[in-house]
Amino acid sequence: MKRREFLSTTLAVAAAGLAPRSAGASNGLVEILIDEPVGTIAPELQGHFTEHIGEVVYNGIWVGENSKIPNVGGIRKALVDHMRQLHAPVIRWPGGCFADSYNWRDGVGPRSQRPVHTNFWDNDPQLCNAPDGPQKYDPNTFGTAEFMRFCQLCGAQPYLAANVRSLTPNDFDAWVEYCNSPAASTTLAQMRAGDGSRDPYNVTYWGIGNESWGCGGNFRPEEYAVEFRRFTSWVPDYGRKLRFIGSGPGADERDPQVSWTRGFMENLVGKSTHLFDRLYGFSMHYYCGGGDSLKFSSDDWYELMRQADVMDSLVSQHWTAMGEYDQERKVKLVVDEWGAWHQTTSLGPGYLFSSVPSLRDALVTALTLDIFNRHAEKLAMCNVAQLVNNINTLFLTREDRFVATPVFHAFDMYKSHQGGRSLRMVCDAPAISLGAGKALWGLAGSASLQGKTLVVTVVNPHISEPREADMSLRGGEAKSAQVTILTAPDIHASNGFDHADEVVPKTESAGISGSRFNWIFKPASVTKLEIDLA
Ligand code: AHR
Repeated sequence: MKRREFLSTTLAVAAAGLAPRSAGASNGLVEILIDEPVGTIAPELQGHFTEHIGEVVYNGIWVGENSKIPNVGGIRKALVDHMRQLHAPVIRWPGGCFADSYNWRDGVGPRSQRPVHTNFWDNDPQLCNAPDGPQKYDPNTFGTAEFMRFCQLCGAQPYLAANVRSLTPNDFDAWVEYCNSPAASTTLAQMRAGDGSRDPYNVTYWGIGNESWGCGGNFRPEEYAVEFRRFTSWVPDYGRKLRFIGSGPGADERDPQVSWTRGFMENLVGKSTHLFDRLYGFSMHYYCGGGDSLKFSSDDWYELMRQADVMDSLVSQHWTAMGEYDQERKVKLVVDEWGAWHQTTSLGPGYLFSSVPSLRDALVTALTLDIFNRHAEKLAMCNVAQLVNNINTLFLTREDRFVATPVFHAFDMYKSHQGGRSLRMVCDAPAISLGAGKALWGLAGSASLQGKTLVVTVVNPHISEPREADMSLRGGEAKSAQVTILTAPDIHASNGFDHADEVVPKTESAGISGSRFNWIFKPASVTKLEIDLA
């Protein structure tokens, strides 16, 4: 920590047209410009992702109807209850890389007659020592009908990823028909009825492949543009506007893959700009992380925050590149995989990419959701990877045990932003020097307004120093407020099966009023102020 000196940041202040402040009692400023909306925060920016990988589906979601684990028609009840609490808006399935090896027909019809197939992830070295089971040989017990039921129970919209690498556009049309054709209209509608739903599922969101530059087919962007056109031409829509999401870049700060974005857009537009009407969203993936999820140094802590913050510039970069072709801005950006991907923690032999999230991951989650809010006008959907027993996970399960991680609590705090109007917010606090010319902001966050309720969320990434900030509401006055704070005495704190409540938020009355007040942001914390405006 010694080499971390504070840098004075004046840029944000200058941007707000304010004079830089000399050092005083407070060392930060948070200004919310109530009359400067950025865009509406689609609830879908707080979406989820579930793949047939490791223990996500079998164990995490699906426990079976005859299980002693409390379940609703085979689906883990504790998971459903927590998803309802979150107001989970949308869930992506069945992958990820798994999606481009998945034949949806294997997962429909009577469960006892469904085929068992080798899972895409069977080759992963981590699964080599695992005993045979659904993680290696997928029994297809959890298929389209079971996923739809899961979404219905959670109150979330389904987002299905189609197989572009190893199935055809005709198979894709048939999946749309199975899901959306009117009751009793077709053979596939009858099959759907046999699987429990006479009525159509009315699936709106359809991903056209996944990581098509990699596991989804190793395409070049110009080749994928052809596939996108083939898969999205003349798809039966049953009176519903289908929202197709194109497979975008696997962004990384060293290689943002803007060439993929440009290549795809150029080849799509080369045919006709009308094709942008067919591209509802363009998906980007970005993971940060590395190392052990629970054993980390203070340098590792700050480095992870810095890496997570790269999302901000990636969104801007890809949005700018998209705009070079889509000048009418018909297409939105979708970040359908994101999170802190650490080394796998051994939770058991069948788990893959699983780790136990700590307070550090809650801050990564919060600062990322803040970035999404600040870019609300560009983003249509974001899906954290992955829901349970995996990367940046909200929940851990083992047999009948279930625990909500600090990541869940960050989502729970941020749900108050869903559907709000994102407002411009300026944060100025001494930046944290990371050495080698790198620095991390001292405070960052987002603000949204719904009716007379102003929601402000702020992350203080400093491990040991509180940040006192002058809070200024431009264009409004606080009448009363509630504060919720997520932090813990130890930055390594996590929730586990035998210590479920080490990292939980605390809510109390904030005792503030007026348009200016001071607030002390605790070290290593996420703070939410829910302010009733006068
Ligand atoms: O989330 C795990 C994997 O990461 C997904 O299957 C893939 O899309 C990405 O590379």
